Amino acid sequence: MPEITQADLALLAFAREVKSKAYAPYSDFRVGAAVFAGGEIFQGVNVENAAYGSGICAERAAAMAAVTAGFTDFDAIAVVGDSESPTVPCGACRQFLAEFNPDLRVIMGGRTDAVMVMTLEELLPEAFVRGYLDQDDGGDE
Ligand code: THU
Repeated sequence: MPEITQADLALLAFAREVKSKAYAPYSDFRVGAAVFAGGEIFQGVNVENAAYGSGICAERAAAMAAVTAGFTDFDAIAVVGDSESPTVPCGACRQFLAEFNPDLRVIMGGRTDAVMVMTLEELLPEAFVRGYLDQDDGGDE
């Protein structure tokens, strides 16, 4: 596990601060996220939906905000959820984030002061990335 830096804690504070904006009437589990990309910070929250599967996680919401602003080169993401132990990104978010940096720094927090820092490579080894599509020889089998 990488050492926790002051920059990690600063990014975590942005995730913690935005968590209250989560729209989570069904699970009541609020999550905030903050992506650091291009020297800027992009926040996101989980947004649930009456059609449960149509909701989105905070990590993907933050990533969408960064991409929408023109930043696809992510350095780090922080996530804070309502769990006692640090909230980890779900599998779909790990895959989504691998698109932008398979070695992304992931800073995780929960309801306590406990902080966990891992790389996305540690959370999702052998991610399916663009390089696999490039290995397609154009054949149909
Ligand atoms: N959720 C996130 O936003 N990020 C995570 O890392 C874990 C789960 C959301 C999805 C759903 O709105 C709620 O938390 C409960 O699963």
